[in-house]
Amino acid sequence: MTDFAEAQAAQDAATIGPPLWLLAEVTYRCPLHCVYCYNPVDFAKHEAELSTEEWFKVLREARELGSVQCGFSGGEPMLRDDLELLVAEAHRLGYYTNLLTSGVGLNEKRIDALKEAGLDHIQLSFQDSSREMNDFLSSTRTFDLKRRAATLIKSRGYPMVMNCTIHRHNIDHIEAILQLADEIEAEYVELANTQYYGWAQVNRDQLLPSREQLECAERITNEWREKHGNKMKLFFVVPDYYENRPKKCMNGWGNIFLTITPDGKALPCHTARMLPGLEFPDVRTSSVREIWYESEGFNRYRGTGWMKEPCSSCPEKEKDYGGCRCQAYMVANDPNAADPVCDKSPFHHKIVEAVERAQIPGNPQQVKPLIYRGPKESLQLDR
Ligand code: FES
Repeated sequence: MTDFAEAQAAQDAATIGPPLWLLAEVTYRCPLHCVYCYNPVDFAKHEAELSTEEWFKVLREARELGSVQCGFSGGEPMLRDDLELLVAEAHRLGYYTNLLTSGVGLNEKRIDALKEAGLDHIQLSFQDSSREMNDFLSSTRTFDLKRRAATLIKSRGYPMVMNCTIHRHNIDHIEAILQLADEIEAEYVELANTQYYGWAQVNRDQLLPSREQLECAERITNEWREKHGNKMKLFFVVPDYYENRPKKCMNGWGNIFLTITPDGKALPCHTARMLPGLEFPDVRTSSVREIWYESEGFNRYRGTGWMKEPCSSCPEKEKDYGGCRCQAYMVANDPNAADPVCDKSPFHHKIVEAVERAQIPGNPQQVKPLIYRGPKESLQLDR
């Protein structure tokens, strides 16, 4: 580095905080075919996974920069044979480690190895409370297997988050989902209403719940809280289509989140790779420091300097940073636009129209079938 570059890097490090949260998407391979998967629709094009050594380099460099939490996700991270090695290295470096899994592939041998490696926390996903719907939504027979995974997780003394992505097809089962969480002794329950990215965006009109469904689900969740107290911590995440101000996506672009894709691209969020006119760096050729502080991909939408109207004069711009760049691109076809969830956006009507369609009673899946996530579908949709 030249003196000037060194001085610049020191100044950047002083004003831009570190990537506290590292998300290691170790593979796009997955035995499930969830219709709302947040992986990019074209995932099948990006097959060349990072090696164990390359992941070690990422873990080391991000930790040196100040990362403290490392999530291992996918796809299904259990499909990586070296997952235990990666967890052990992250643990050795001092990360708090978290595994986000469907439970497929978690058996006695592997959970013991993960425990031995120092894994701190496990998030187990279910698609629904019933075998029929769980298996329908993932196009697999995995419900019983997930129940067994939950038993294994508890038997090794892990705190467990049960995650269930909520949408039109399972939102009326909230009570039963909470019952299931209670039965498997989850400490935390994430009732995460689908946000419309990746495969969920492809299936958006079939997945968006009606307002009545949403209000009912929220009421049941609140009643459960009142009745059962704090035994399980419940998080109910409202879909932003039903808001009129956007979310502070990823807590701000390039602010605390760093996602590394299976093939080594460094991204500020899971789906940024689709944004036009933006190159994202590769961990094979750039250090995490260069990626975080110097790359165009991470600097383009940092802060508020990139904004145009209505964001640039909005008194809430420091609060939501203009919302989500990916949603702006998907709905308004312009990643520099205000997130169309915001009712100040000239494209807000597109969100309103989708929400209005969701109020029509019936099952939109009968009009337009759901598309399941899979490599064949990925290549077809990409064309
Ligand atoms: Fe990419 Fe919101 S998901 S910026």
